[in-house]
Amino acid sequence: MKRIVILSGAGMSAESGISTFRDSNGLWKNHRIEEVASPEAWERNPEMVLEFYNQRRKQLCEVKPNAGHFALARLEEKFDVQIVTQNVDDLHERAGSSKVLHLHGELKKARSTVDPNLIYELEHWELKLGDTCKKGAQLRPHIVWFGEAVPMIDKAVALVKTADIFMVIGTSMVVYPAAGLIHYVTREIPKFYIDPKAFAVHGVENMEVIRKKAGEALPGLVERLLKEVL
Ligand code: OAD
Repeated sequence: MKRIVILSGAGMSAESGISTFRDSNGLWKNHRIEEVASPEAWERNPEMVLEFYNQRRKQLCEVKPNAGHFALARLEEKFDVQIVTQNVDDLHERAGSSKVLHLHGELKKARSTVDPNLIYELEHWELKLGDTCKKGAQLRPHIVWFGEAVPMIDKAVALVKTADIFMVIGTSMVVYPAAGLIHYVTREIPKFYIDPKAFAVHGVENMEVIRKKAGEALPGLVERLLKEVL
């Protein structure tokens, strides 16, 4: 079975109603995202950081996967599909994709501030000051913040290297190390880049650029991949 590895970003979930980072000029209540999603923000104002993620978690309960997510799930009929997502939502999983690696963490999880191995599934959208792990320490969102290491990157690199087909969907490719994953893909394999603002990625061969929304482009592309012998 051929393996398709997919790198998705915020544009993947845009048609579900979740705004992207850089399209919405990256602001939240007049704060730059980098000022809210950082260890410094957590030090300075944990209530504000918790509120930011509580709002996003609440919104996640109200949105649904879109046609793009469902199309990718269908690829599993014929391919071994591995999704590497920068998104912290669970829309790929809810659409039926079975192998999803979250590079930047998961909104529906919290983790201990003293032991990164203590990770909890949240049953409710709200995480509050005073919510603690089993060691009695405050819980924080299970999110990779700006300036923090990306623990899943080695696993992502290993997966990307094994791809027979590679897709990039809805990402501005400016946040590293995620954006660098494309350079680990085998040179000659077929690649697709779906993003209305997709740019030419230099030094990458055999890449078909589709400047359309994910929900518009993916059903057709997936249909094609399920029929074609690549
Ligand atoms: P960005 O907001 O930087 O980029 C979103 C991309 O999605 C842009 O290139 C848009 O053109 C594209 N887009 C918009 N609507 C689309 C649609 N309907 N279909 C397809 N593409 C669409 O988001 P990311 O690249 O995901 O990190 O940002 C990377 C990381 O930066 C995020 O994971 C987040 C952020 O700060 C953390 O939170 C750690």
